[in-house]
Parts: sequence; C-alpha cells; structure tokens
Amino acid sequence: MPRSKHIELDPRWLRKFRRSLLEWYSTHKRDLPWRHSDDPYAVWISEMMLQQTQVTQARPYFERFMSRFPTVADLGKASLDEVLKSWEGLGYYARARNLHRAAQQIVREHHANIPDDMETISSLPGIGPYTSAAVLSIAFGKNYAVVDGNVIRVLSRLFYLTDDPSKTATKRLITDLANRLLKRGRAADFNQAMMELGAMVCTPRKPDCTRCPANELCRAVKELDDPSVLPRKPPHKQRPHHKVTAGIIRKDGKLLIIQRPLDGLLGGLWEFPGGRCKDENTNLETCLINEVKQSVDIIIEIHQPVAVVKHAFTHFEITLYGYYGILTNGEARPLTCHDCRWVTLEEMKSYAFSKAHNRLIDAMYQEMNRTQMSLLISEGG
Ligand code: ADE
Repeated sequence: MPRSKHIELDPRWLRKFRRSLLEWYSTHKRDLPWRHSDDPYAVWISEMMLQQTQVTQARPYFERFMSRFPTVADLGKASLDEVLKSWEGLGYYARARNLHRAAQQIVREHHANIPDDMETISSLPGIGPYTSAAVLSIAFGKNYAVVDGNVIRVLSRLFYLTDDPSKTATKRLITDLANRLLKRGRAADFNQAMMELGAMVCTPRKPDCTRCPANELCRAVKELDDPSVLPRKPPHKQRPHHKVTAGIIRKDGKLLIIQRPLDGLLGGLWEFPGGRCKDENTNLETCLINEVKQSVDIIIEIHQPVAVVKHAFTHFEITLYGYYGILTNGEARPLTCHDCRWVTLEEMKSYAFSKAHNRLIDAMYQEMNRTQMSLLISEGG
C-alpha cells in the first residue's frame, strides 16, 4: 500500500494564512439572510439549500421557506406537499424530503432542538459529513472543518494538489488539511470564509488571484500560469438521452395529475401522467397511451401536442413531449405512481411540479390565452 500523502504546515505560514483569510472575510463577506441569525434551525435550512445550489438562487427560497416554516416544529407539522411546494424549482428534492423527515424526528426525539453533537446530528436523514460539520461549526461554534466544492478548489490550488479530488485518498488528504487549517475557536467564521473565498475569488473559471488574501501563500499561483486548471476535473462523460411523454388529460373540467413515488428522482413531485419511451420503434403517441394505462389504469385518446421541452439532469437528459388528451375509459387509480388526482387549474397551483412539467403548464396557459380554451376547462367542457 502506498503511504498516504502528508503535508507539513509551518506554524508561521499557518498563522499568516488564518489571519489573512479571517481579515478578508470580515471586510468582504456578503450580507446574506442566514448570516443575521444564530438560530441552528436557520443555519441547517440554509446549509441544506446551499449544498447543491448557488447563493443567489438559494436566497429567495431561504427567505420564503423561513417565513412559511419559522421553526423546526412548523416544518415537522407541515405536509410533504407543502414542503415540496416551497422547494419547487430548487432541484435535488431528496433534500426537502429529508428535511421534512429530520424535522419530525427532531421534534419527536430531541424536544424540537437541533442536536449539537456529531453522533446525534449525523444520524438524522440527509445530514452527511458536510451538513453536520457546517451546522455544528456555524451554529454551535464546534471545531469541525467543512469540505464542499469551494473548499476542495481552494485547497487544491493553495497546496497544488494535482490528483483527482473525487478519489478517496485525495478527499481524505483535503479533509485532513481543512481540519489542520481550521482556526480553533473561530470555526464559524473560518469555514464560511473558506467557502466565501471559493465562491467570490478562487472561482472555478478566471479566479481573481490579485484580490486573494492567500495570494502570497498559494502554490498554484507560483507553479502555474493559470491556477484554474486545478482542481483536476474527471473526464467528461456523455449524458444519455431519453424521450419522455406526458399527457394533459381532461375530464369534466379537471386535469389528471399523478405523484411520483416518494423515493428516487423527483420523488414526491407531481406531474402529468406518461413516461419514458423504452422502445425507439414505438411512436410517441402509442408510448404515451401505454404509459398512462400502466401508471393509472385508464384509456386515453390523444389530441394535439402541447409543447416539446428539453431538460438536463445531472446524469442524463430528456426531451419531454407533451400532448393534450381526454379520458375515454376507466377510473384513474395509482398503480406505479404514489397517488393521482383530478384537479382544477386553481387547485393545481398548490402542487409542486418539476421544471420540465412546469414548462408544459406554461405552454398550456399560453395556448389557453390564444384560444380561450380556458373556458372549456373552467366551465367543465
Ligand atoms: N456555501 C455553503 N454554505 C455557505 C456559507 N455558509 N457561506 C458561504 N458559502 C456557502
């Protein structure tokens, strides 16, 4: 077994790094809503949102979420549909489902207090090494270093780490470095300063090295013309592409919506029935008829197309073909979906849909404005 790499840190270098970073943070940090609160609940919500989402996108969601669910008890009491509706558009919906489950567990088992020790907090749904270190350091001042994409980038450049950071050994080295760099007693500021530096200065492309508080200490600045080549990126894989169909099915002035199974991709979100075309040789309309039969046990007749929508997920891309249709036979019941309902347009607004299906809804409203089809739907056509 090769010995794992160890990097010595000179105490004077370390003092200078910590001082420069914390000074820079105190004058350059962004004024963000979660930085006005030391409520562990607010810290937890913000860190869950910020895991896979940029600060600018997360900010309005955070403000709405906190006014809708101001305490962990409010979140625990809410329905999953309400929580998903507040998360609609943020993506990675497992975060919302886990928040909801964890809130219920915190109310049940911890008197509605966010746990302040590593073992207990790590046992909650959706709280991995990043979130536990972030909440414990930022909300409770505990000495745990966070390691997110920003920190990986800053440290890869600072120490000129040329190995692929997705490898376990490199990740371990980075986590060890982050913990040795951490200024004990200042963990909240130190961790946020590292992430802020990665977000504002040591950016993925075109890092602004002249404004960096660690410029003189950075090995990538010394060794490379362009520090942005680090961290090394794994080879880009082509994403598979799928054709997916969806039917906006009408009956007595209502539309049929179905809820996806609660676990898995977009779990718990609502959508129009349909599904992936598994056979390239089957035409889209036949595919839609078969998928609707399988998922809700009804026979439909397809009318005109609504829209074609492209959407990219992390590991694959879809083209969604939306059609209008009507029920011709059967009573809808959930077979492969979690639930199904006939809803009016007004009722539909309180359900959370994926981005791709929301674009079908937008296209439907545009069409209704053009053709006044709204009369058909709202008056029971
Ligand atoms: N990214 C994730 N959490 C953050 C925080 N607390 N401050 C800045 N960037 C972040």
